[in-house]
Amino acid sequence: MAIPHKLNVIWCRTFQGVLKVGNYFMGYRMPDYMEGNGRIKELGAFLKDKGINDVLVVTGAGMVKRGQVQPMLDGFDANGIRYTLQTYTTTDPTSDDVEAGYRAYKENGCKAIVALGGGSRIDCAKGIAAKAVHPKKTVAQLQGLLKVHWKIPPFVAIPTTAGAGSETTVAAVITDSKTHRKAAINDPFLIPKYAVLDPELTTGLSPYTTATTGMDALAHAVEAYTNKTYNTKLEDRLAREAVKLIHDNILIAFEDGGNLEARQNMQRGAFYAGRAFTRGCVGYVHAIGHTLGGLYGVAHGLAMAVLLPHVMEAYGAAAQKRLAELADICGIKGSTDAEKAKGFIDWIKETNAKMGLPDKFDVIKDEDIDQMISWADKEANPLYPVPVIWSREDFRTLIETIRS
Ligand SMILES: [Fe+2]
Repeated sequence: MAIPHKLNVIWCRTFQGVLKVGNYFMGYRMPDYMEGNGRIKELGAFLKDKGINDVLVVTGAGMVKRGQVQPMLDGFDANGIRYTLQTYTTTDPTSDDVEAGYRAYKENGCKAIVALGGGSRIDCAKGIAAKAVHPKKTVAQLQGLLKVHWKIPPFVAIPTTAGAGSETTVAAVITDSKTHRKAAINDPFLIPKYAVLDPELTTGLSPYTTATTGMDALAHAVEAYTNKTYNTKLEDRLAREAVKLIHDNILIAFEDGGNLEARQNMQRGAFYAGRAFTRGCVGYVHAIGHTLGGLYGVAHGLAMAVLLPHVMEAYGAAAQKRLAELADICGIKGSTDAEKAKGFIDWIKETNAKMGLPDKFDVIKDEDIDQMISWADKEANPLYPVPVIWSREDFRTLIETIRS
């Protein structure tokens, strides 16, 4: 028998109240980071200084081929850092990818991991790091909450997109090679120790990828900021700064991919947003977005771009004060919170339109809607402290608004 909605709301809010206290013991932290053009060349000297001299480099085969990894490797050679290259061609990391990477790590006597790539490569490398401290466990056994609970080897994350924020988060999303189930290893021990934000690595991103990954980062910041409960002042501040950075730079980076200042700001925005949602959580934008990815292969960033304004609108008055604060930071005018919130949501819609992104999806099938609702509800409730806890009917209404 389904639980009455009011009881479910009480259960969710009680769970979130308990977790809020638990969060103070979680050990959330921010990676030490260096930023600037060409900073990957200096990583060798940095590692040498830290006494790290045997590393596994996890990256994409295409990046190696295009010569994007070479400046970092030259820096390793110059500083006597031994490295093993572990390259991948797959889009999403699988448990087999993680096992292969762990074998390379072990057989070559590596003592640290450097991940250079998008969120997928960094997630794969996090999986290898989790295996390094739990060699006898399978990836499936490590998936879930707080299963790593041990210090991983020194880990450097170098993102080549400005979106996922994996360089600062607790999560590694990995697909089981046998069951094809996609699930996350979630543990604060997976937060990278160091991050390098080198904007030159993102100048080759297409305008489309710049748009969708940038909107993913925006969704992280906006969902974390409009959520209740878990944030401290730090997450609130980082979310606000991330929104401002993305607001001021996303169209510049989209229109002029070589603009290093805009690229740097987008990277920093994604980094801050990643740290904000690490504690503050995401919300229904992500929960519903993941169902579109699972059922129809909709790219994560695209799902975020389309869903973000619709979900914020659907939260109504419960999110208006926080959205109005974000509007203020971005210089969006209005005489009431409701007007400012609308102005902020309209800005997201207009930005999507300017970048050629759609407002709705034409892939959602009638027969899948119940499944989407169940998956989204299960992912979000009770964990995500969303502004309004939705009933199944609320999810249904939202899904109908994003169908064309
Ligand atoms: Fe995301």
